[in-house]
Amino acid sequence: MKTICVVGLGYIGLPTATILAAGGMKVTGVDVRPEIVDAINRGEIYIDEPGLDTLLRSAVSSGSLRASLAPAPADAFIIAVPTPITADHGADMSCVVGAAESILPCLRPGNLVILESTSPPGTCRDLLRPILERGGLAVGTDLFLAYCPERVLPGKILEELVRNDRVVGGITAESAVKARDLYARFVKGEIVLTSATTAEMIKIVENTFRDVNIALANEIALQCEQLGINFWEVARNANRHPRVNVHQAGPGVGGHCIAVDPWFLVESFPDASGMIRCARERNDSMPAHVIDTALTLLADVKKPRVAVLGLAYKADVDDTRESPALKVAAGLRDKGVEILCYDPHVRKAPVPLAPPKECLAGADLALLLTDHTEFRQLDPARVAEHMRHRRVYDTRNMLDHRAWATAGFEVTLLGAGRSASRRERRS
Ligand SMILES: NC(=O)c1ccc[n+]([C@@H]2O[C@H](COP(=O)([O-])OP(=O)(O)OC[C@H]3O[C@@H](n4cnc5c(N)ncnc54)[C@H](O)[C@@H]3O)[C@@H](O)[C@H]2O)c1
Repeated sequence: MKTICVVGLGYIGLPTATILAAGGMKVTGVDVRPEIVDAINRGEIYIDEPGLDTLLRSAVSSGSLRASLAPAPADAFIIAVPTPITADHGADMSCVVGAAESILPCLRPGNLVILESTSPPGTCRDLLRPILERGGLAVGTDLFLAYCPERVLPGKILEELVRNDRVVGGITAESAVKARDLYARFVKGEIVLTSATTAEMIKIVENTFRDVNIALANEIALQCEQLGINFWEVARNANRHPRVNVHQAGPGVGGHCIAVDPWFLVESFPDASGMIRCARERNDSMPAHVIDTALTLLADVKKPRVAVLGLAYKADVDDTRESPALKVAAGLRDKGVEILCYDPHVRKAPVPLAPPKECLAGADLALLLTDHTEFRQLDPARVAEHMRHRRVYDTRNMLDHRAWATAGFEVTLLGAGRSASRRERRS
């Protein structure tokens, strides 16, 4: 195999195309957005991923990677396009369908097609195969088709593309072997072979497992608030049990994976996914809980002002897709609260952004929504100088509550409420 066409040049497709090109393959990268194609052909990356710029520049200048708006004939095609959810929580497979249709004119006997997009189980068999066969070639004999999910961590994509174990699921055993041979060119982790539908299910199970466990933590956190005890103390000590792993509670679940993929199972199996749906709904309910708590904390203030700290969906990234912090900020604004938001990693957002001092100036509540490393270093005494009321609501349990209390703050902790955080301070 010498030539590869990667369709979709985002967080997954671009590093994959680049690493294949760096390994000696001739790669055509395809995207529907001309600005992405142009940037890549200039040797520029448009996503923030350590190490990718150098690798991309050398792949483009050596001629091994070229971006294009249209697919080109190749030995193998990798599809890495988005699979979001619709407004009513169905899987939106329109990009996968579009990508599959776009490669049809390029397909030749012996070609391998790989889907990397996270997809409902059965997608290769029931959606992709019929589309590919429209070109007159039979999957399994003329064409090979496999599903190879991605489990990389943004910020460490290049490292994890190489190091992580991979699951490779073939529509036929031969399809799986052919896909394995391609990934073996750069993957140092173990490559496990299975069926396409099993591989599709494995990917969704990984994210659903995390979502359900976070929902359990969130539910216990709400119960602890009602009991007037501290969830974090409960979780920490329950986790001393060698077979227990209570996850972290928080203001909700964001990102384009954990907050999205479980819905694929709910849609596919409406009668056998009650728990998964409940977990999704519990996690989706957390922003409203944070908003209610914040409003309670501000009940005595006439024209309340909140300094929102953090908009990204998780620590130390700039990604705000499905971020619960955005929902909290927008929800407070809709309730008539004046908000200013500060996030050291986010430069654009649909809520007002401000530098830290301006964000805190005259605020009645500092509301911490993302556990960015930078926020750990906040000096409560200096924060207090800017604020009108010394009140802080920590939804991530990341601040030094004693230090904040010593600086005169009334500290509220998600999962503990006001009284429990006072007790924690005394203990
Ligand atoms: N980003 C991650 O960390 C991650 C991890 C595991 C799995 N995934 C999955 O991988 C898939 C891709 O995710 P991503 O984060 O790379 O998405 P992305 O939005 O960053 O990139 C996808 C790219 O595909 C392009 N595109 C859309 N339709 C196209 C078409 N028909 N032809 C060519 N290009 C097209 C878009 O313009 C975009 O540039 C999704 O299914 C996602 O769930 C992502």
